[in-house]
Amino acid sequence: MMNSGKPILNMNQKRLVPTKLPLMASALIFLIFIVFNLCIKNPFQHSTNVQNYPSTKPFSLLIGILTRADKHEHRHFLRLIYGIQSSPLAQIDLKFVFCNLTKQEQRVLIALEILKFNDIIILNCSENMNDGKTYTYFSSLPKILSQTYDYVMKADDDVYFRLLPLASSLQPLPRSDLYYGFVIPCQSMNPFVSYMSGMGFILSWDLVEWIANSEIPRNDTYGPEDRLVGNWLNRGKKAKNRVSNKPAMYDYPGMNGRCSHELIPETIAVHRLKRWDQWLHVIRYFNVTKELKTSKLYNGLNYDSIFNLKI
Ligand SMILES: *[C@@H]1O[C@H](CO)[C@@H](O)[C@H](O)[C@H]1NC(C)=O
Ligand SMILES: *[C@@H]1O[C@H](CO)[C@@H](O)[C@H](O)[C@H]1NC(C)=O
Ligand SMILES: *[C@@H]1O[C@H](CO)[C@@H](O)[C@H](O)[C@H]1NC(C)=O
Ligand SMILES: *[C@@H]1O[C@H](CO)[C@@H](O)[C@H](O)[C@H]1NC(C)=O
Repeated sequence: MMNSGKPILNMNQKRLVPTKLPLMASALIFLIFIVFNLCIKNPFQHSTNVQNYPSTKPFSLLIGILTRADKHEHRHFLRLIYGIQSSPLAQIDLKFVFCNLTKQEQRVLIALEILKFNDIIILNCSENMNDGKTYTYFSSLPKILSQTYDYVMKADDDVYFRLLPLASSLQPLPRSDLYYGFVIPCQSMNPFVSYMSGMGFILSWDLVEWIANSEIPRNDTYGPEDRLVGNWLNRGKKAKNRVSNKPAMYDYPGMNGRCSHELIPETIAVHRLKRWDQWLHVIRYFNVTKELKTSKLYNGLNYDSIFNLKI
């Protein structure tokens, strides 16, 4: 409309202007009419474009790393690992999630962490109760968050996620009824057989709300948390959209049979990082420190020297 309308109007103007003044006036009215029409049509056209291409709209993701209150130093490390990453495709918020604090020391130190980083969620549960934390996590979110997200992840604290490939993989996916992760058993390539590993799985917000409201999860909170989530969704006939991202998600080489393989460039997540040498291997393999510049401020440390360290 817009492209075909304008050239015709310009041609008319050029032909009419030299001839008669009344004709020029009517051309002006015609011009106003066209401009008015375009103004009415443009917003409509724009909104249909947005509806046709939802993947161009940035989306939001909450990553909740389930951990324990005492692991201050590990949180510090993970804040570095995630603090230097970002993705233009998504608004990604990271929170550390644990149960009730039990010691006075925790209350003081975690208050400091919250003042500085504001990235802590304390759930109403008790940490030594092995089961039910994942249920409490998802079912509490609609009540305690001040915003909603398109997606919510539950992640372990021994996993390394690469946010850019993660966001790229989510961008074209449905924003509702989605269950995304690394499907267990290890050799399964069918996202419906049978559930996503607890290393890090994602639910769309409608499923988070469903978990908060349905009796199915509320009645069934004891057992391996990742398998439970799969069971709830199956029994509720939920998560028609399921994505298992293999081989981009996996366990660290040699850690867990067929769930493990060598590090690969297209990695989204590496799980079971239990030791420093494993984290160092991963950080070096993915060139995580490549932005480091040589400087007089840190004598001897530069990108190359990181690769000469013995691990
Ligand atoms: C926290 O959990 C306890 C035990 O399950 C319950 O009695 C209490 O009402 C809960 N508190 C809130 C604020 O939800
Ligand atoms: C967690 O702490 C709150 C406040 O101290 C308490 O009311 C609640 O019962 C505790 N919840 C559990 C599950 O221990
Ligand atoms: C959940 O448990 C309650 C009480 O035991 C029961 O009445 C209800 O039918 C159960 N709901 C589901 C969906 O299993
Ligand atoms: C890391 O950087 C090296 C050297 O530039 C490159 O060869 C390698 O492909 C990079 N690795 C990844 C996983 O991008």
